[in-house]
Amino acid sequence: MESLGNGTEDSLKNPDDPVDPSLQFLPASDAKKVKKKKFFVRAILVIILVILAAVTALLTGLLVWNFHLRNDVRIKKVFAGSLTVANRRFTDSYEDSSSAQFNELASHLSKQMKNMYSSVPLLSKYYVSSSIQAFSESGDGTVIAYYLSEFSVPEAEVSALDEAIQSSMRTTEPGQTRRLSLSRKPTNDLLINNMMSAAVDPRMVNSALKGHHKQSHHSRAGETDFIQSPGFPDSPYASNTYTEWRLRADPDHRLRLEFTVVDLENDCHKDFIRVYDSLIPSENHVMAEKCGHYTHKEQLVFLSSGNVMLVTLVTNEEKNFPGFRAKYSQVPAEIQGCGGKLTGMKGTFTSPGFPSSYPPQAQCVWNIEVPEGNHIILNFNKFSLNDPGQSPDNCTKDYLEVTGNRMCGEKFENVPLVIKTDKADIKFFSDMSHVDKGFSAEFETFKPFDRCSKKFHCENDACVSQKLRCDGYDDCGDMSDEKNCVCEESYIKCKNGFCKPKYWQCDGVNDCGDNTDEENCGYCKAGEVACRNGRCVSEQKKCDGHNDCEDGTDESMCAKSIVLTCSEFTFKCKNNMCISKQNPECDGHRDCEDGSDEEGCECGMTPYQSSRIVGGEAASEGYWPWQVSLHLKGRGHVCGASLISDLWLVTAAHCIQETNRYSWPEEWDVYLGLHSQSETNTANTVLKGVKQIICHPEYNPQLYNSDIALMELDSPVTLSQYIWPICLPSATQLLPTGQSVWITGWGKTREEGQLASVLQEAKVRIINETVCSQLIEDEVTPQMICAGILTGGVDACQGDSGGPMSFVDPTSGRCFLVGVVSWGEGCGRKGKPGIYTRVTKYRSWIREESGVLTEGGSSKLNDLDAEVSERWIL
Ligand code: ARG
Repeated sequence: MESLGNGTEDSLKNPDDPVDPSLQFLPASDAKKVKKKKFFVRAILVIILVILAAVTALLTGLLVWNFHLRNDVRIKKVFAGSLTVANRRFTDSYEDSSSAQFNELASHLSKQMKNMYSSVPLLSKYYVSSSIQAFSESGDGTVIAYYLSEFSVPEAEVSALDEAIQSSMRTTEPGQTRRLSLSRKPTNDLLINNMMSAAVDPRMVNSALKGHHKQSHHSRAGETDFIQSPGFPDSPYASNTYTEWRLRADPDHRLRLEFTVVDLENDCHKDFIRVYDSLIPSENHVMAEKCGHYTHKEQLVFLSSGNVMLVTLVTNEEKNFPGFRAKYSQVPAEIQGCGGKLTGMKGTFTSPGFPSSYPPQAQCVWNIEVPEGNHIILNFNKFSLNDPGQSPDNCTKDYLEVTGNRMCGEKFENVPLVIKTDKADIKFFSDMSHVDKGFSAEFETFKPFDRCSKKFHCENDACVSQKLRCDGYDDCGDMSDEKNCVCEESYIKCKNGFCKPKYWQCDGVNDCGDNTDEENCGYCKAGEVACRNGRCVSEQKKCDGHNDCEDGTDESMCAKSIVLTCSEFTFKCKNNMCISKQNPECDGHRDCEDGSDEEGCECGMTPYQSSRIVGGEAASEGYWPWQVSLHLKGRGHVCGASLISDLWLVTAAHCIQETNRYSWPEEWDVYLGLHSQSETNTANTVLKGVKQIICHPEYNPQLYNSDIALMELDSPVTLSQYIWPICLPSATQLLPTGQSVWITGWGKTREEGQLASVLQEAKVRIINETVCSQLIEDEVTPQMICAGILTGGVDACQGDSGGPMSFVDPTSGRCFLVGVVSWGEGCGRKGKPGIYTRVTKYRSWIREESGVLTEGGSSKLNDLDAEVSERWIL
């Protein structure tokens, strides 16, 4: 190895002597005073000149010295890449880095690479060395080599070096072959093509990393093997280490890697795992980066595009965690179901490998053809095509193209896609790096004329119940159900065309969505924002980075959060700083400087293979894994509850305090993971006893105020796909009027009806406090939250009490316990919403009593939900 290009060590020239040696000082004479005076003036001038010259010289010297010094601060820059050696056949001995064959080819290649770099002046100047890391077999049996090239470059030249590397690679684009050797014996040259190179993540070449460990594994047909972090599971991984696992499969196979445990520090800047679609840690081939804790519920399965894969683990100085364990095996390169012809009335198709993450560099094309005269409707049960840096507007990296329109990113709500022809071409594409879970889609057909039968036909081709026409909510998702409405007498007409109940006017909540109902209310003029503290500030001050409202309202819905003085409207980070963003917790963005808004976010995720879109009355099994059924011994189901950790439940105090007997823990049986009351001992169900019950000390049985209680299980429950805690909202979480939330339970299905056997679910909306107080005769306190469908028919009922009102954050897909079913006037009556305990008010009480810290929040609160499940009548 040779070190090149450190030619900037020119020594500094001494600056010229600042004093002019020709200057002569004349002797002073006592007799001639004038002469003496003149002499003094001259002397002072000379001294000033000398000082000025000295300062100038010093400054120039300093500048020159600083320039040289800066140029001497070198940065270690490592590039990782691969190339194909077109005139060498791969043999097994190339897999063994200690074999003679490996070393012969490696040294031959290193020499050629050095020659190649030396032909580009900028590269040769800063080149340090290259090392061949591994070989693998390409599709045509030739050799793929993986290398690292190190450069030592002045900071100012880093981008020029990057550019030089990229342009030198461009000359060996796929298909082009280069004879790179300057050797005089051309027969001995290696024919190199497909040369690619990308910088290695600086965290991986950090000089603090002391331990470097590398392992190689070859997966054999029919075998499953494991890799795990050093010391796992007996001891945590060590500090400041870099470990890599090179995995290979036979030709014409891919590698399948499945993480069974991932338990790392939560901050990916500190400890992280990376999976590469290469044998080298090249940025162009990163498939995924993971840190923190993953549960078995969140499947982490990766497929390589070829027959190699690399897993790396980097750890830093502080905090060592248990680490990871993963199994790997080889699977045939050909993936079933990647494209093809789909015919018939109905069918399904998924991204390659689904539910594993799709592999990089995949492309599938499906041609759907349904019987003539029919149209096609596509439903996505899962859609997750994220790639960092990809905008959902142009989808240039990983995407699904449906009849020419590209889709990417994440979709939590299933808005069906209607294709008004009987043929559709659908293409899936994944680029070289970063993979995601992919999609699972279902196609159906419909006859264009009876698409919505008796329902309202939205402009976007969705169908919604006629009842939802002109109800003031955008039920179609494109507002078409709210267009051309004649508002009834008791409604106002908003500027955007919505009809909203008159009594929602001037209540401080923007019910219209365009603020019409809050204009001219005497306190804020048009063009002003109403702050939560009652002030008014100009619209233009919104999101300008200044807290103009003084309570953060004008800065709370912005992309960037600002730090504010803490108040009841702000979120407090662990470091006691308060930020302006509304509901920043667990929204996938680090808003607090210390990242505390993204801590403890394992709660509230439902199994990802399920879809949350339903038109039916019964919930699918495992949809609401925090839903608990409380049985009184000898009486069966009486109340619901929500799991908030593996040990604690939240329920309603009135379930406990109805008779003295109910407050004895031994009276209760707790069913977790239950779906049907008639099948209480399935494999997914767990029965637990209760250790203690804590009712809220301020529970008022007359008013039903503070209707909340905690139950501690007699032993922790094992979490599973069917048993999983829900997130607790932080005290400052805000749910706007009209927000859709879900209620679930085994309560009565109508006021005079029977308890349900299978868990029921329904979507209701948050009702404004003022409106709720006007609609409900009994007192509604600030500790309560109202939700329902004012046209009636959808509500909780007897037997649902204690159960959850869950809010699904559309950004993260996470669920939050925003209410506990408490009371109502009858069930599902027109204009009579259900009343729920407002959980945000009890956040600190829950934490103090149970120690449960799981927090969360929501960010995007715009509701685009398609249809209310109206068939669930209580
Ligand atoms: N108190 C009832 C129970 O014990 C719950 C009633 C909820 N009623 C309603 N209309 N939302 O189960």
